[in-house]
Amino acid sequence: MTDPYRTLGPGYAGRRRPDPRVAAIIDEALGEARSVVNVGAGTGSYEPTDRRVLAVEPSPVMIAQRPPGSAPVVRAVAEHLPLPDGSFDAALAVLTVHHWTDPARGLAELRRVARRQVVLTWDQSVVSRFWLVADYLPEIAEAERSLPTCDYIAQQLGPAEVRPLPVPHDCTDGFLAAYWNRPYAYLDPAVRASISSLAKLDPDRVEQAMRRLAADLDSGRWQERHGRPDEPGSADVGYRLVTSLAP
Ligand SMILES: C[S@@+](CC[C@H](N)C(=O)[O-])C[C@H]1O[C@@H](n2cnc3c(N)ncnc32)[C@H](O)[C@@H]1O
Repeated sequence: MTDPYRTLGPGYAGRRRPDPRVAAIIDEALGEARSVVNVGAGTGSYEPTDRRVLAVEPSPVMIAQRPPGSAPVVRAVAEHLPLPDGSFDAALAVLTVHHWTDPARGLAELRRVARRQVVLTWDQSVVSRFWLVADYLPEIAEAERSLPTCDYIAQQLGPAEVRPLPVPHDCTDGFLAAYWNRPYAYLDPAVRASISSLAKLDPDRVEQAMRRLAADLDSGRWQERHGRPDEPGSADVGYRLVTSLAP
């Protein structure tokens, strides 16, 4: 099993800290579930502390960054969950489905092991209009064209609701569009290193795009198009919570 998180993973826990506002939305979507299996659990972000949790994660680099005292973890992939049918009230999968080699199989596994499924993902058609992608790195949209869409994920989960997850201006979880009004953050290679959509691109191409972003920020061109950096607020930059509607 190749592990992209061997290179992406170091430093993940520091730069991808769970955001409390995102956590509250996920927690609400988990409803009354008393037991939760967190698939593609990474370093343990968004794992509830007041429910029984089992984490499933394939990458040893990510497992090694789970904080002491976090939920027990099994090393496995979504496509083959080593768990009995219906053994959990809910299955959670946060920003991981796009990494799965067989999303249909993984989503079927979530349904098999849990009555309720909660998946955090993104709508590529919205993310492709996000300024970093549209104006600087359109190859991200190109590379993500074949990823499972929100509608596909919802279909696989049976009746499911898809709803936008707004991202606060000071979101602590540094995913791709988290810095939507903190453009200077993308100039930092360490920030980019924990964002898989950026880390997978040709580094020379990313450097070139970041030089253009820095120049646009210096000249005020970025501000003319997108407003004042660091203005507070929240934005719909494409993140979506897909929650099954079955009991
Ligand atoms: C962007 S991280 C998200 C981690 C965590 N859920 C979070 O919100 O911080 C994606 C995770 O998916 C895991 N992953 C990759 N392929 C997987 C698979 N086939 N099944 C389950 N997890 C997988 C990676 O190892 C990584 O930990």
